[in-house]
Amino acid sequence: MEKKKKIAVLGLGYVGLPLAVSLSSSFKVIGFDISLNRVSQLIKGIDTTLEVKKEKLLKSQRKNLSLTHNYKDLSDCNIFIVTVPTPITKNKKPDFRPLIGVCKTISKILKEGDTVVFESTVYPGATEEICAPILEKNKLSLKSGKNFFLGYSPERVNPGDKVHTIDKIEKVVAGQNKKIEKLLTEVYSKLTKGKVFVAESIKVAEASKVIENSQRDINIAFINEVAKICSRLNISVYDVLDASSTKWNFLPFQPGLVGGHCIGVDPYYLSHKSLELKIDPKVILSGRQTNDDMPIFIAKKVDQFLKKKSKILFLGVTFKEDVPDLRNSKSFDVINFLRKKKHQVKLHDPFVSDIDSETIKFNSSNFKVFDCVILSVPHKFYLKNSDKLTKFLKPEGVFFDLKGKINFKQKKEFTYLSL
Ligand SMILES: NC(=O)c1ccc[n+]([C@@H]2O[C@H](COP(=O)([O-])OP(=O)(O)OC[C@H]3O[C@@H](n4cnc5c(N)ncnc54)[C@H](O)[C@@H]3O)[C@@H](O)[C@H]2O)c1
Repeated sequence: MEKKKKIAVLGLGYVGLPLAVSLSSSFKVIGFDISLNRVSQLIKGIDTTLEVKKEKLLKSQRKNLSLTHNYKDLSDCNIFIVTVPTPITKNKKPDFRPLIGVCKTISKILKEGDTVVFESTVYPGATEEICAPILEKNKLSLKSGKNFFLGYSPERVNPGDKVHTIDKIEKVVAGQNKKIEKLLTEVYSKLTKGKVFVAESIKVAEASKVIENSQRDINIAFINEVAKICSRLNISVYDVLDASSTKWNFLPFQPGLVGGHCIGVDPYYLSHKSLELKIDPKVILSGRQTNDDMPIFIAKKVDQFLKKKSKILFLGVTFKEDVPDLRNSKSFDVINFLRKKKHQVKLHDPFVSDIDSETIKFNSSNFKVFDCVILSVPHKFYLKNSDKLTKFLKPEGVFFDLKGKINFKQKKEFTYLSL
């Protein structure tokens, strides 16, 4: 008789929590996280990533979802899905510590016939080269591909994106053998109304994910380079893009600060593997460098319009619109540069309450106080309040609209700048 599926999701962050909640509509699920604080909050229905609403989180826990900080509670699970972070080190090398840590945890409770599926983004080969040997150091001497099985299913969810949600997107899966492919197709079909695509192998599935994000990084880098050229030409890159996008096959990328946990990080996983294979990853790394240079380019562009020791209001510091995620946010590179130039920079972000002591209130007490307003991350909150944004400026101030979202070009009372 087929064993009943009991799923463990390890790492309850942006990816793991929505996954655990969704899977719990069809299976018994235990969510595990190394952070006691995160688990305690989630048990109370509080998700600080804002991906899952309180009622849904509490309702799932009344049904098939339980949450724990104790790995022993996962002992009777037979499918382990790993969603821990895969960051980079200071030297921009893959940092496998969370992945190694979680594999050690699973190895303590691994049983004959179990399946371990990785969703964390890695380079091609990592699941079998790095994770499998750690999992094999288990008390029962279980071997991967013989006694327990590996799978990989890259995560495509895009935080803050309410259209391409986990229940609609096409999911790629790969397994060590046909039985695991079938098992994963079955499990992930319950999760999404989109198709489930079975990749040729685990390595292929790993490669597919890391190239998706690297491709995005490179495309943005090209547009960032175009933005620099346009700036020298004294034309707006957004005006150029409006014109170019009328062509049927023009790709709609926008310039900007590339931060966050994925696009600015994953290319380093791919380039690391590439270097191991003795292939110089010129395109990947030069795209990365171009995007990494963008904060200073933007900061310099603003600085040249300002008098010494200007008062600046910096709007939006998270890594992108409408998420509370500050990881690898490049806004801070812009802020630090401007502070080094002795400007006084105050910050505001509706998603972040305790940025630092320089945080200001978004109300009339600050009207006409600033020499410059920088709209860095155009959260919906700012777009809805766009009439207020320039009220913070002193007469003849500078408004810098990084993403070109607000049409203030014709206004005479202040200088409007963009890319
Ligand atoms: N965030 C995204 O938009 C996104 C999209 C696609 C893919 N990914 C990939 O998914 C993975 C997870 O990303 P995320 O954004 O959800 O990360 P996250 O930082 O939001 O969450 C990871 C969670 O894992 C926990 N954790 C760390 N080490 C652990 C361990 N040893 N055992 C158990 N829990 C542990 C952390 O406490 C944290 O709660 C990464 O590989 C990332 O590249 C992320």
